[in-house]
Amino acid sequence: MKMRFALVLSLSLAATAYAEDTADVWKAKCKSCHGEDGAAKTKMGEKEKIPDMTSATWHKNHSDEKIREYIAEGSKKNPKMKPFKDKLTPEQIDSLVKHIRGMEAK
Ligand code: HEC
Repeated sequence: MKMRFALVLSLSLAATAYAEDTADVWKAKCKSCHGEDGAAKTKMGEKEKIPDMTSATWHKNHSDEKIREYIAEGSKKNPKMKPFKDKLTPEQIDSLVKHIRGMEAK
């Protein structure tokens, strides 16, 4: 009986984490440097020359895999871009990749 309760509890916790809105994760953890729209028109963006993730060329040059790895492992060139693999679930990172894909200016 106890076991079953623990299982139900952990399942519902996982569902809550998954349902957390990606846009909110972006606002809370990424926006301060990358900007609301990903163009990095922020103080940090200017100082650190953060690439404009609304640019079509940027999207052409970055595969989903590459973006995912960047978020999970951080930048090897710039420690300001920290690894997020301990702070976000793989599902959250996948949703962020999709969120970033949606930033391309049409
Ligand atoms: C403290 C500032 C800061 C925060 C917060 C931050 N980043 Fe970054 N990010 C950077 C910097 C600086 C770079 C450029 C790194 C480099 O030149 O290698 C970067 C680069 C990236 C890149 C790769 C860009 C490229 O052209 O290769 C991705 C993707 C990215 N960030 C996603 C995110 C996501 C998603 C979040 C939130 C979960 C986030 N970043 C939070 C500073 C930040």
